[in-house]
Amino acid sequence: MSEMKGSSAAGAGAASATDAPAAAEPLIRVEGLHKSFGNLEVLKGIDMEVRPREVVTIIGASGSGKSTLLRCLNLLETPESGHVWFHGKDLTEVRTNVNELREHIGMVFQGFNLFNNMDVLDNCTLAPVTLKKMKKAEAENVAMKHLASVGMDKFAHAAVARLSGGQKQRVAIARALCMNPEVMLFDEPTSALDPEVVGEVLEAMRKLAADGMTMVVVTHEMAFAKTVSDRVVFMDQGVICEEGAPDELFGHPKHERTREFLSRYLADIA
Ligand SMILES: Nc1ncnc2c1ncn2[C@@H]1O[C@H](COP(=O)(O)OP(=O)(O)OP(=O)(O)O)[C@@H](O)[C@H]1O
Ligand SMILES: [Mg+2]
Repeated sequence: MSEMKGSSAAGAGAASATDAPAAAEPLIRVEGLHKSFGNLEVLKGIDMEVRPREVVTIIGASGSGKSTLLRCLNLLETPESGHVWFHGKDLTEVRTNVNELREHIGMVFQGFNLFNNMDVLDNCTLAPVTLKKMKKAEAENVAMKHLASVGMDKFAHAAVARLSGGQKQRVAIARALCMNPEVMLFDEPTSALDPEVVGEVLEAMRKLAADGMTMVVVTHEMAFAKTVSDRVVFMDQGVICEEGAPDELFGHPKHERTREFLSRYLADIA
C-alpha cells in the first residue's frame, strides 16, 4: 500500500510530497486520544507519532494504559475522542475498513493467539490465503521465508501445542509478517515466557528492527528498550508523562514519576 502522497491532507505539516516523503510523514499519528471503560478514564489525551522505520517502545506501570493505547492503533479498542491517522488516513472515521486496516498492521500479543490444532505452517498461511486470497503454494513460500527469519523453519510441520513459549512467540511474529505489514505492534511479547526463552524472542525482534520494520513495542524489558528503540515513551496514569531518545530518558529522566518508575529497573538499564 502506498498512500503517502494523499496523507498531506491530514495536515502533518510536511511540505507536499516529493520523492522521499517517508522521512517526513509519520506513519502513525495520534492526537488527543481519549478512552474510558465505564467511569474509568484510561487514556486522557494522548498525542504521539511513529515515523517509518522507527522503533518506539512504550513503558509504564501496570494499568497506565499501554495496552489500551496500542489496541487503539488498530481499532481493537474504539476511542471516544481524538484521532488516529495511519498514512494520513483518519482511522476514527466511520468509513474505515477495519479488516483491511489490520492487514497492514501486524500485532503480537503476550499470549501468542496461535491455533493449537494446526501446524506451524498452516498458522502462517491461514490469513494470507483466506484474507488476501494468496495461492497456497505462494503463501507457503512466504511463510517459510519468515519462519526462517525467526529460526523456526525447521518446525514448519510441527504441531503448535508441542512448541515452547519462545518458539510459539517466534511463530506468532512470523505469522504476522506473512501479511506483509507496514508496522508491527507488540504488547509485552515476552511477559508470559520462561526467562530462559525471553532472549530468543527479543533477538527475533532486534533483527526485525535492524531490517527496518516500523515497530511499536510495549515492554518491561528495559535493556531491550534502551538498546533497540529510537524513542521511548513513558506512560503514567493515562498520559504520556515523558518521551525521548533512550539515552536521554534512561540517563536523564526529567520527571519524578519517570525516575521513580525507572528505579525499579536500575540493573537492566545500567
Ligand atoms: N476491556 C476493559 N474493560 C474494563 N476495564 C479495562 C479494560 N481494558 C483495560 N481496562 C482497565 O484500564 C486500565 C488500563 O489498562 P491497560 O491494559 O491499558 O494497562 P497496561 O498499562 O497495559 O497495564 P499492564 O502493564 O498491566 O498490561 C486498567 O485499570 C484496566 O483494568
Ligand atoms: Mg498491558
